[in-house]
Amino acid sequence: MSREPLIAPSLLSADFARLADEVARVADADWLHVDVMDAHFVPNLTLGLPVVEAIQRVSPVPLDCHLMIEDPERWAPGYAEAGARNVTVHAEACTDPRKVARDLRAAGALAGLAIKPGTPLEDYLDVLADFDTLLVMSVEPGFGGQSFIADVLPKVRRARELVDAGELRLLVEIDGGINAGTIEQAAEAGVDMFVAGSAVYGADDPATAIAALRAQAAAAMRG
Ligand code: DX5
Ligand code: ZN
Repeated sequence: MSREPLIAPSLLSADFARLADEVARVADADWLHVDVMDAHFVPNLTLGLPVVEAIQRVSPVPLDCHLMIEDPERWAPGYAEAGARNVTVHAEACTDPRKVARDLRAAGALAGLAIKPGTPLEDYLDVLADFDTLLVMSVEPGFGGQSFIADVLPKVRRARELVDAGELRLLVEIDGGINAGTIEQAAEAGVDMFVAGSAVYGADDPATAIAALRAQAAAAMRG
């Protein structure tokens, strides 16, 4: 089965004083990944709905909102109503993931479920039937620029098998430590969508970095 890699630069590594310019610099990405952190679910605080609404107004690329927040039942639908194409909530923060997925879809977004590096995929196989994307974290959520944790790749392989067997319909997304040195192993394991923060915004030319990552992932997917 042939898959095309999707590259999602993470705005977390951008210059927050120049957000509209930073969004424009990654206009040829497939998605724009926006990390929302609440200083409770993770020990960091970034931005929230008003800023996402402003980014949505200027972004030529669909938004992929990654909510690292407590009480996603309460807050997640607002990001879908703001126009985000995909809204991902953390499994560890949800009391009723299926309800969140229903509410996100009803508000017109794709529904995403994220799992931290230590969270087993098996615990969520049933609820994943209601989701459109699965985000496998390959660092502990909270900060950009951390090292890739390759131990999460068996979860990617398992999800890929289930999707290829037709048991789940999901885009498999990976987030954390993705760069020229790690993207190939993630692609070989079965990732569809690659988040890259420092590897894109830390490069001299983000557009060149996106193209290079996409080419590397595509080659690794062809095997
Ligand atoms: C971390 C965030 C990531 C982060 C990735 O909690 O979810 O999206 O921006 O940054 P890099 O690619 O630098 O690891
Ligand atoms: Zn993220």
